[in-house]
Amino acid sequence: MPSELYRCVYYSKNLIAGGPARIAEEIESILAAARRNNPTLQVTGALVFNRGLFAQVLEGPCPSVESLFEKISRDERHGDIQVLAFRAVPERLFSNWSMAFLGRSREDENLFGHIGPQTGFSTERLEGDRLLEIVRNLAFEEEARAA
Ligand SMILES: Cc1cc2nc3c(=O)[nH]c(=O)nc-3n(C[C@H](O)[C@H](O)[C@H](O)COP(=O)(O)O)c2cc1C
Repeated sequence: MPSELYRCVYYSKNLIAGGPARIAEEIESILAAARRNNPTLQVTGALVFNRGLFAQVLEGPCPSVESLFEKISRDERHGDIQVLAFRAVPERLFSNWSMAFLGRSREDENLFGHIGPQTGFSTERLEGDRLLEIVRNLAFEEEARAA
């Protein structure tokens, strides 16, 4: 039996030192790693960078998502990782991408302003759903633009 499909949703703080050019370069290298590794792992997902925060969705067979997330969580380019969801799901939401990079066109907006400890109340589950919705909407916009 194929292993169950899992989804991990987290956000983290950017620790890449330097200006926008340096950050863009490192993000390019992260995306190159994703293109290199994720297809073999059958992992798909999306990465958003906004206002010093990363948000990422990883979907795939449970062991792949676990091992990839473990590797990513040791990456010194980010820290303060907050896992908002890690659970079995019935289907993929980002099946078209080994790792979509989203949000470039919305740099002027604070996309995650209402996520995180500053909001006071709310459970992780709720935050996870909210973040997922933000990332999904960005993906829809991107697809509409590409069409
Ligand atoms: C926010 C963030 C997201 C990342 N996402 C991925 C990913 O989806 N796939 C991946 O292989 N590496 C990802 N990485 C990079 C890994 O931490 C690691 O540097 C890379 O997988 C090493 O690739 P290699 O084993 O082919 O040398 C990410 C790193 C960061 C900081």
